[in-house]
Amino acid sequence: MRTLHVELGSRRYPISIGSGLLHQPGVLERLARGRHALIVTDRNVAGAWLEPVREALDGKHLQMVVLPPGEQEKTLARFGEVIAALAELGASRDATVFALGGGVVGDLAGFAAACWMRGVRFVQLPTTLLAMVDSSVGGKTAVDLPNGKNLVGAFHQPAAVVIDIDTLSTLPDRELSAGLAEVIKYGAIFDVGFISWLERNIEALRNRDPIALTEAIARSCRYKAGVVQRDEQEQGERMLLNFGHTFGHAIETEQGFDGLLHGEAVAVGMVLAARLAAQLKRAPAADAERLQVLLRRAGLPVAPPAGLDPEALLARMKLDKKAVSGLLRLILWRGIGKADIVRDVQPEAILRVLNPS
Ligand SMILES: NC(=O)c1ccc[n+]([C@@H]2O[C@H](COP(=O)([O-])OP(=O)(O)OC[C@H]3O[C@@H](n4cnc5c(N)ncnc54)[C@H](O)[C@@H]3O)[C@@H](O)[C@H]2O)c1
Repeated sequence: MRTLHVELGSRRYPISIGSGLLHQPGVLERLARGRHALIVTDRNVAGAWLEPVREALDGKHLQMVVLPPGEQEKTLARFGEVIAALAELGASRDATVFALGGGVVGDLAGFAAACWMRGVRFVQLPTTLLAMVDSSVGGKTAVDLPNGKNLVGAFHQPAAVVIDIDTLSTLPDRELSAGLAEVIKYGAIFDVGFISWLERNIEALRNRDPIALTEAIARSCRYKAGVVQRDEQEQGERMLLNFGHTFGHAIETEQGFDGLLHGEAVAVGMVLAARLAAQLKRAPAADAERLQVLLRRAGLPVAPPAGLDPEALLARMKLDKKAVSGLLRLILWRGIGKADIVRDVQPEAILRVLNPS
């Protein structure tokens, strides 16, 4: 087992990474303080992974919420169901909420934990690669509204993150690749050496080699933890993690969240951001090409889906949460491993990369 920590003073917490952790005696029991525990999961995850967690928490007053899977369930209504379960349990202030699942379950359960009695303990048990390397670390919790994604939420750090890489054995290939997009993102933003490592290990990762997966997850969590420690509330550096996301969100929204997966849209977005940087003569075009080849080898799309209108995508980008007073703020790079925030990108330049012909 590998353990690293997110250093946030009195809210410091461990991230444990290993094989078989959900079945390992003591691991989950130790994390449940107080008498009450609630497990939140979804139907796809429950079949394979709920039982060991339920068994480990057997000695507690225990309640479970099993949600239907999917982003469309990350709603205020489902949040209400989780809160109702806590109420029915009679959960006191020392209750612990366990989120067993991908980013949807983690964001929703985390938000419920942030709100119940103004905040109770919360443990992340991520079961998608995306949740392991990104959403389970850092304390952002939220639900969606019809008006947009993640509009209602809170910063609420978990008390621990337990990453059992065995759970990836049941994850569909497409979801694994979507998680790899976020892994590659860390290299693109911070570390050309990590990109070289990924180029050597991408097949092993797609074949779910446990040593390669553990290494990729641990390195990703280290980058994420570092950023969260330095900029917990996303006032500056944490924004770099949105590399590819402004383009990606525009694609996801334009497709009504029914097309590319989030990680896939981010992959396309990173290629577009890298091309834009090359076009603006901020970065070598060869780096954009190198990123594109790696993403393709990871099983990811690298161009916007056919039929999306560039003008409509640009309009969506202008509505992005990171836009300030109508000016587009994008994360671009000066080359692999060197990302920065660019505040005054001209819309015409964006249209040129969305219209490559
Ligand atoms: N809080 C953050 O910092 C943060 C960061 C990135 C993304 N997010 C959020 O995360 C969400 C996306 O997360 P995701 O990609 O994990 O999606 P997800 O939670 O919808 O999981 C993807 C699919 O995989 C299934 N699944 C999960 N684990 C499985 C397993 N082990 N075996 C079989 N099937 C499994 C789920 O049921 C679902 O169908 C979005 O809502 C996004 O906004 C949050």
